[in-house]
Parts: sequence; structure tokens; C-alpha cells
Amino acid sequence: CPKLIIAVDGYSGCGKSTTAKQVAARLGYTYIDTGAMYRSVTLFLLQHNILFTDSHAVQDALAQISISFKFNVITGRNETYLNGVNVEDEIRMLYVANSVSKVSALPEVRRTLVRLQHQMGQQRGIVMDGRDIGTQVFPDAELKVFMTADALIRAQRRQVELVDKGQAVALEEILDNIKKRDHDDTTRTVSPLRQADDALLLDTSYTTIDEQIDWVVQMATERM
Ligand code: C5P
Repeated sequence: CPKLIIAVDGYSGCGKSTTAKQVAARLGYTYIDTGAMYRSVTLFLLQHNILFTDSHAVQDALAQISISFKFNVITGRNETYLNGVNVEDEIRMLYVANSVSKVSALPEVRRTLVRLQHQMGQQRGIVMDGRDIGTQVFPDAELKVFMTADALIRAQRRQVELVDKGQAVALEEILDNIKKRDHDDTTRTVSPLRQADDALLLDTSYTTIDEQIDWVVQMATERM
């Protein structure tokens, strides 16, 4: 059957990446985490003390950055590489999360990453998760899902994830970060987060991961 492009957009922490990853595995598709790409650029700028407001320096940095994903057979996950270095864990740290909205609002950063994402989707058969995939990157995607969930429930889930990784972070701090990111992502001038007119809404406040995956796979199958 024909290979689809599946766009999964939505708020932070509603299970987008977990769902998108599993949907890709079930369909035999490639999963692309665009949030990891914005996080990688953010990490690079922080590591090199580049001011986000210095657009020349940011342009220079973008020219030096190469981002790729590699499947790790030991951990069983797709991991993010920044200039050949595995940054999968580092980009999930709170200090990166706290700066990523500022970096992802920069037009030159978006232009570069959207171009790269477009190339990554040329082969089709992809599940791409992010904020603007259905609206900007692949407006013609055959299936668009827009995910949302109650902010407190999202914070609680993120806390469990962080604890599993050995990071004890207070719930209020995570909730603040989520609310701030929701606000920044929906109000920024460049590609604000919004549901595409033809995207299907998936509220994950009271659903299990398996229910979410089944539902998206079902929607995909109907479109093949
Ligand atoms: O998905 P994740 O939470 O890892 O994304 C991190 C940040 O990257 C988001 O808060 C958002 O600011 C930005 N982002 C974006 N466009 C995308 C994916 C992520 O602006 N397509």
C-alpha cells in the first residue's frame, strides 16, 4: 500500500513522541523527532555561548551544525547526534528545555530545520512529530494528528519520566516549564503552534499510550 506522511503536532508532554515512535514501529515507518532537532541547535548555541539575539552568530552556527538520528540496538531507541556526538540525554535536560522556545522562535533556525525535515521526508513512510509539521513542514500530509492534554496531568507524567532517569525535579517547576512553553509556542510570531484545519484532535488526558497508538494506527490504515 502507498506510504503515508503522518504529522503529529501538539503541546509538550502529551505523549507525542511516545505515540509517534510506536506508530512508526507498527507501520514500519521512520520516526523523526523534530523537537530533538530544535533542542540540538539550542544545546550547540549554549555550548558555544552564542547569544540567541546575535543573528549573524546564529547563522554561522547553523552552518556548522549537522544533526542525525541513529538507532541504538542496545537501548532500542533512536538517538540524536549533534556533529557526530550522541546528545540524546543532554538535550532532554531542563536547562536545554528552558531555552529551546527562544531558539525555536528564531526565523533562521526554523528555515534551516524545516528544510532539513522536508528532505528527511522525501522517501515518505514517516511519522514526524513537532509543532508545525501539519501546518508548515508537510501541509499535504495524508494524516495529521493534533495532540493535547491537561497541563497538570502532563507535568505529572513528565515528572515520572524524569524520576526514571534519576532526576528529581519538583512538580511545580515542571508545570511552570510546561505552561511557559505552551504560552511561548502558541504566541510566537513565527509558525505558532496551532491545530491545522484538517488535523484530527487527540486529547490524551485520560487515555493510555496503547489506546493512543491504536487510534492513530487505525486512522492511518483507513488512509492507505
Ligand atoms: O517536542 P519537544 O518538547 O522536544 O520540543 C522542544 C521545543 O522545540 C518545543 O517546546 C518548541 O519550542 C520547539 N519545537 C518547534 N517546532 C517543532 C518541534 C519543536 O518549535 N516542530
